Amino acid sequence: MNKVTLHTLSTFKQAGEKFTVLTAYDACFAHVVSEAGVEVILVGDSLGMVLQGQDSTLPVTMDDMIYHTASVAKGNQGAMIMADMPFMSYATPEQTMKNAALLMQAGAHIIKIEGDAWLSESVSLLSERGIPTCVHMGLTPQAVNKLGGYKVQGRDRGSAKQMIEDAVRLEEAGASILLLECVPSLLAEEVTQAVDIPVIGIGAGVSTDAQVLVLHDMLGITPGRSPKFVKNFMEDAADIPSAIQNYVAAVKQGSFPGPEHSFE
Ligand code: KIV
Ligand code: NA
Repeated sequence: MNKVTLHTLSTFKQAGEKFTVLTAYDACFAHVVSEAGVEVILVGDSLGMVLQGQDSTLPVTMDDMIYHTASVAKGNQGAMIMADMPFMSYATPEQTMKNAALLMQAGAHIIKIEGDAWLSESVSLLSERGIPTCVHMGLTPQAVNKLGGYKVQGRDRGSAKQMIEDAVRLEEAGASILLLECVPSLLAEEVTQAVDIPVIGIGAGVSTDAQVLVLHDMLGITPGRSPKFVKNFMEDAADIPSAIQNYVAAVKQGSFPGPEHSFE
């Protein structure tokens, strides 16, 4: 695959062509995922659950994220590498600069932080210094204790309107990508239309510019009950590379996610 850049992704958005994001945490899977045509590899702090067996993402450290980002960078074949900044590693703008730099030096091409308009200052400082940002909005798992559980966000008109305003504000501050988790499909569509930067969705319906899933979820090996937005792509595939290729094809065609994976 040719090297994927922010320019590639905005060309997709302008052309109305969907792109695909998938998590990976090690060199071997980074190789398989990028070879299957996934444009963006997310080194997610979901590794707290998936690799470490924690019950939330809160225990994940900067050292964990640096280690896994460096591993992914070794195996990657041209995808864009997005690295999550872990819980409380971006509480102040100064801390954000320092920790974002460490992830970029480990091999990330863009960093992701969770929140809304309060991140504007950090987003603009990072952007001025040459570090692109993805802002993760809606259900932000690092705030699970404040949110009172893993619940759909933006269900009432007030919070929906606020989310659209915040998205526009973050774009103005210099955010390069937005990610919406667990928001009603219609709201995700409105946010996607309100900004020129690409919007990635998970549990956000089919209208966003891209989709993301946790690798182990879509391979059907995460223990316990899966969230509604997950589809097991191993059910119709002979091997892991084919399952990932089928995911890429389904996203490009708009056949995933279906209404059964979305919130109305
Ligand atoms: O950590 C992660 O895997 C994520 C995705 C679920 C969006 O943030
Ligand atoms: Na995450």
